[in-house]
Amino acid sequence: MAAGRHRHIRNKTTQRVERLAKLVAWRAAIVATRPMRQQPKRPMSTIAILLSAFLLSVVALAAFIWSMQKGLFDTSPAAANVIFERGEAGQPEDPAADKPHGTAGDAAYDTSRDIADESSAPVVFLFICCAMVWLVVASLAGLTASVKLHEPDLLASVPWLSFGRIRTIHLNAVAYGWAPMAGLSIALFLLPRLLKTRLAGAKYAVLGAALWNAGLIAGLGSIAAGISDGLEWLEIPWQVDILLVAGGALVGMPLVLTLVNRKVDHLYVSVWYMGCALFWFPVLFLVANIPGLHFGVEQATMNWWFGHNVLGLFYTPLALASIYYFLPKIIGQPVRSYGLSLLGFWALAFFYGQVGGHHLIGGPVPGWLITLSIVQSMMMLVPVIAFSINQHQTMRGHFHRLIDSPTLRFVTFGGMMYTLSSAQGSFEALRAVNRVTHFTHYTVAHAHLGLYGFVSFAFFGAIYFMVPRVTGREWPYRWLIYAHFWLAVAGIGVYFIGLSIGGTLQGYAMLDASKPFMDSVAVTIPYLKARSVGGGMMLLGHLCFVANFVCAILGLGPNRDRPALFHQGRKRALGA
Ligand code: HEM
Ligand code: HEM
Repeated sequence: MAAGRHRHIRNKTTQRVERLAKLVAWRAAIVATRPMRQQPKRPMSTIAILLSAFLLSVVALAAFIWSMQKGLFDTSPAAANVIFERGEAGQPEDPAADKPHGTAGDAAYDTSRDIADESSAPVVFLFICCAMVWLVVASLAGLTASVKLHEPDLLASVPWLSFGRIRTIHLNAVAYGWAPMAGLSIALFLLPRLLKTRLAGAKYAVLGAALWNAGLIAGLGSIAAGISDGLEWLEIPWQVDILLVAGGALVGMPLVLTLVNRKVDHLYVSVWYMGCALFWFPVLFLVANIPGLHFGVEQATMNWWFGHNVLGLFYTPLALASIYYFLPKIIGQPVRSYGLSLLGFWALAFFYGQVGGHHLIGGPVPGWLITLSIVQSMMMLVPVIAFSINQHQTMRGHFHRLIDSPTLRFVTFGGMMYTLSSAQGSFEALRAVNRVTHFTHYTVAHAHLGLYGFVSFAFFGAIYFMVPRVTGREWPYRWLIYAHFWLAVAGIGVYFIGLSIGGTLQGYAMLDASKPFMDSVAVTIPYLKARSVGGGMMLLGHLCFVANFVCAILGLGPNRDRPALFHQGRKRALGA
């Protein structure tokens, strides 16, 4: 009976297979005999799309270079001097709560800068305080997530501390807490200085910060409770995102109002970077978060359009704006080539917008989109090399200042990591490399080299400069600054090297079909432990940073009458 039913089923299956084979043959015959004009219309050839996008970018870039040559953008060395007051060029300005120079004739520029700094101080202070809180929260969450990857039983019974949630809390606390709060504090501090006027509309920024932080607290609370939109970098529920959009728009108001009241004709390159960051972010965040607009593969594409653009068109320009201001300010010399700095800006603006597809290499997205993103990832070498040459040339003859100045050390290190992380990223986007590194810890190493080694270091340096001017009190403990710098450098070194090796081994193990998947996990364990050691050092460095800040605002520790440089004696020799 059972054997008969079995035979019956087999016969039915054979019949089905035969029918399917006939269908395929019939369809093949139709396609083969169809006249060419009846073939379904093919979209424009992939190569043509790629070439036209590439050519468009290059032509647009050429147009900008041409317009610079024609003087539409002021590339003269004089334009680079906008960061100095009259007669100030050649004078280093390093953090100081008191007047930085104190010699006769400096009064004019000290006064005008005081006016700018006084107008921004309260709001900048607020943003720095928020940044400090989020830095500690994010680092603690990052370290917890890291330890859980090699000690999975730790705190396993607490749902909100499960890896999926605490990792996401870490990412969102850095992405929407530490990095934007620090970056925006710098923008609010620099705008009146660079536009040589008072900061207008500071109250909008205060209200914006309140909405933004309320949104972030609600967002992190939702993630901790297991409620999320389920897209990386966009996990905060869209209903909560409304607070961040409104807050972000309000923070942008002082930029517009101060620009209107500006006392300068030329906009220094840092103003371009900051202005665009403040314009690009709301556009990206709003489009990416509109509910019910993107589905399936299109949603994944939009997700990474946002994911990489928020890095390249928000954090990166804010960090570059800081470096372009603080580096020449501290050494007292304008950037070596102002033209190169503008080339870097426009090349970034042209090429970055299309790189997001490199996160989907191997995914079910059109091949041309991926190839386009790889081409543009390579083109990113243009702004990066322009920046690196400029940074090196500007620093030539001034490297000795790295021994003294905390700000210069952090900012220069950040600039070097911009070059390194971006060059690494360009090659990581190549298919041959990405097939090994994708889905591995190698990507996480690169992520920290970029957002920590580059962006966070640039922000740390800027904060060391701003706090004495904003609070009226010098950093009390030099050794804490020293400890912060070396713990952060050593920490990111261990983190980056450890995970780069671990991630590469993991990638090769995953590609080896003869190995069970668990081998690719086991091979990473020592490197994950190394990451926890590196991350622990970074966290310790952050605690030194925050402790020093708290002492500064509470009036604890020694009172300084001169900048807290690493080597106090040398400062006297520099004449400050
Ligand atoms: C400009 C040149 C850059 C290029 C071409 C580039 C390329 C890449 C590539 C190919 C990935 C890996 C995608 C994957 O396999 O999943 C990646 C990931 C990442 N990059 Fe970059 N990168 C660049 C610069 C930067 C910078 C300057 C930063 C920091 C500000 C940064 C932050 C990140 C982060 C955070 C990730 C991980 C994203 C995630 O998976 O959540 N990159 N990048
Ligand atoms: C301001 C400092 C930091 C920044 C800006 C930062 C940034 C990031 C970013 C952008 C990601 C997403 C990477 C990706 O998905 O590819 C990430 C993930 C992560 N970070 Fe951090 N991070 C910081 C500090 C730390 C610290 C101190 C630790 C401690 C070990 C840490 C551990 C982690 C872990 C474990 C992940 C998850 C990696 C994974 O999904 O496999 N981070 N961080």
